[in-house]
Amino acid sequence: MAAVTSDPIDILRSRTSEKWAEHPEDVLPMFVAEMDYPLAEPIRRALHDAIDRGDAGYVASSNPLATAFRGFAQRRWGWDLTGARLLSTADVSMGIVEILRQVTEPGDRVVITPPVYPPFFDLVAEAGASVAAVPLVDAGAGLRLDLHALERAFAAGARAFVLCNPHNPLGHPHSRDELTELADLAAAYGVRVISDEIHAPLVHPGSTFTPYLSVSESARASGFALHSASKAWNIAGLKCALLVAEGDEPARILDRMPYEVTWRTGQFGMLASTAAYTDGDEWLDGVLSSLTSNLDLLDRLLREHLPEVSWCRPEASYLAWLDFRGRGWGNDPAEHILREAKVALSPGPGFGEPGAGFARMNIACSPGLLEGAIRRIAAVPPGTRTGEPGSQTGAGEIPARAT
Ligand SMILES: Cc1ncc(COP(=O)(O)O)c(C=O)c1O
Repeated sequence: MAAVTSDPIDILRSRTSEKWAEHPEDVLPMFVAEMDYPLAEPIRRALHDAIDRGDAGYVASSNPLATAFRGFAQRRWGWDLTGARLLSTADVSMGIVEILRQVTEPGDRVVITPPVYPPFFDLVAEAGASVAAVPLVDAGAGLRLDLHALERAFAAGARAFVLCNPHNPLGHPHSRDELTELADLAAAYGVRVISDEIHAPLVHPGSTFTPYLSVSESARASGFALHSASKAWNIAGLKCALLVAEGDEPARILDRMPYEVTWRTGQFGMLASTAAYTDGDEWLDGVLSSLTSNLDLLDRLLREHLPEVSWCRPEASYLAWLDFRGRGWGNDPAEHILREAKVALSPGPGFGEPGAGFARMNIACSPGLLEGAIRRIAAVPPGTRTGEPGSQTGAGEIPARAT
């Protein structure tokens, strides 16, 4: 399988989406979760054909997306979705909000586990609920779900839990044991688990993605999952995601969603996602091969040039969660790095309180860009700031949208 290589810099600079358009030309963009690779050929073909047909209307209810996803889930993860209810919508974020609207009352507490994908804070608020943060805990081999603290939050009345599996920013696919225990706790306290699995196709060779709904009857009886081809095939702008329910009651909840929820699915997104799930495995494997060698490179570069910066190598996706606390650049190293090194990272404090002193780096780029970014950062002299109590950022005051 051939590695997928980054588009040339002139093509990247001509792109108009967030990653390459947000900053001036002297900044290396390593922030938002878009990849620098060209589109997969089956997706290009599907989109070109649709344009040639003038096929840009509304998504038909008889569309092939659910069948394509069922095939992919079975092939890739052995996940049998034969009897499952699948509903499409515009994106994963919207799916989370719509499910929360169905399963919570205004003001209910919804658990999230920082450091975590920053918009989770906003999505809970958008659904009219309030955030109950249960930070991940250091289990020696990296940050993991704190099942004891989760049980305490559930016992204290939380109504739902937005799980990130694999976890962004850590790239950790939660283990079957962790998920099984979580499902038992959720069943014991009547908590709905909404599992955001957008990064699942990007689990690296040698690691395992476990779909939350596959772990037990308890998980299926009350849980939901969200999937999308948008991260793994780099088509976030096309607007298509899937809400998944396997249990009777969650399926009924999807059935009573307002029709508008599914009507908002993008036609190009549906066509591109169908192509991705049907014919996109080879390209995806090529991307995973490039990401593996970029992670090897990052590991070497950090050891050589930034030994004070620590990290835990991700097992999924293309985001590296870097601990800059030993470098003395304060709570928001991304801000210092943008100013001094002209490299744009995602600011750690946006991921919740445990993100102070951290930044997230997107490594889905050419090895040359990655090396250039690390060299620029390493050229910035170490500082003396150890962290500024009280300046951490939480919900509603995220310094930059770090998606
Ligand atoms: C964990 C997670 N969920 C959701 C999203 C956003 O997905 P969408 O654009 O489908 O709303 C992202 C984007 O990076 C993400 O990392």
